[in-house]
Amino acid sequence: MIYKFSLIEKILLANDIIPHPFADASSSVGLGFALGCSVKLKITDALSMDYQHVNAIAAKASVSTKGCEIILDCLDALGYTRKDGDNYSFTKRGFKCLSPLSEDNFRHFILFCDYLYKGYITIDDTIKHGKRPHSNMLEEMTDYEWELFSRAMIDISKTNVKEVCNKITVSKTDAKMLDLGGSHGLYSIELCRKHTQLKSSVIDLPPVKKYTDECVAKHHAAGSVSFVASDFMKDELPKNNDIILAFNIIHGLNATENEELAQKVFNSLNDGGRYIILDQIKGIGGKSQLSKATTAYMALNLLHQAGGNTYTHKEAGIFAKKAGFKNTQLKKLNAPGFGIVICTK
Ligand SMILES: C[S@@+](CC[C@H](N)C(=O)[O-])C[C@H]1O[C@@H](n2cnc3c(N)ncnc32)[C@H](O)[C@@H]1O
Repeated sequence: MIYKFSLIEKILLANDIIPHPFADASSSVGLGFALGCSVKLKITDALSMDYQHVNAIAAKASVSTKGCEIILDCLDALGYTRKDGDNYSFTKRGFKCLSPLSEDNFRHFILFCDYLYKGYITIDDTIKHGKRPHSNMLEEMTDYEWELFSRAMIDISKTNVKEVCNKITVSKTDAKMLDLGGSHGLYSIELCRKHTQLKSSVIDLPPVKKYTDECVAKHHAAGSVSFVASDFMKDELPKNNDIILAFNIIHGLNATENEELAQKVFNSLNDGGRYIILDQIKGIGGKSQLSKATTAYMALNLLHQAGGNTYTHKEAGIFAKKAGFKNTQLKKLNAPGFGIVICTK
């Protein structure tokens, strides 16, 4: 992401002397593709914190020197590599986000975005008709794409799992939790680790089980978190829950589906139970352009991929109140555009 500008660039940008569409429609999009290409073609795997000649990097990645240099220059522009003559190395940020050796890398997220963009060829039809022209993305994905999706969700959740779980109050009497579309289960795992009386069922579709199982095993959470293969829209939800999580779920549903889901959740919660939504919340960041970029882009992406949308706190509150919830509370997260809505029965 380019965020550092010289004083002259700031003045020229503020006065539209540098045309903004030059970046918006051109370089930003192309640089995003270059980033996807760098991971897909394993150019990133050939890089390290030490300078290496472009010929050596290209040879390790088995790509042309010319192509490799172009991709490395794109990464340099984005701040992921440094350049000294024909030699390149990772920057600290590049290593953290792109190296397979980094615990915190974002490689699956990048590959998943790269997969999503292939489908953008039909975005005009989605906008024209206000809905995706064909089936939900989840119905079309191959095993490899399920892996990219599930691991991309792990990449994102690792950035905020502690923050999110610290914002959720759990009482000593809260014992049973559902994590709708919980995927990797990392939020459940952390909440159950902090509140040892709590047990959680991750409700997700069958292809996701192996990623939940993997995370549960990695965090030694088999005693508290389990996977249930189920479609939360079509199947009954288990009853008598104290907490039900829907993290990054409501954006994949249209308003009617969200009302239906809120009603199902209400019916399967105990009195005083809570429906906790985490999502991109429209309007949460006021005038922040970063926040607007997140919620607006996610609305576009989710309409196109699944017929979904992003919603304001008020709209999420209407879904909940129609179902019978007494009140809703909004908590902002550090990531621009992200928030938690807590609905109490
Ligand atoms: C965007 S991911 C969110 C994953 C996780 N909650 C998080 O925030 O990181 C949505 C998840 O919901 C699951 N999902 C979507 N529709 C579903 C349905 N009808 N029934 C069960 N799971 C569903 C997907 O398989 C996916 O794992």
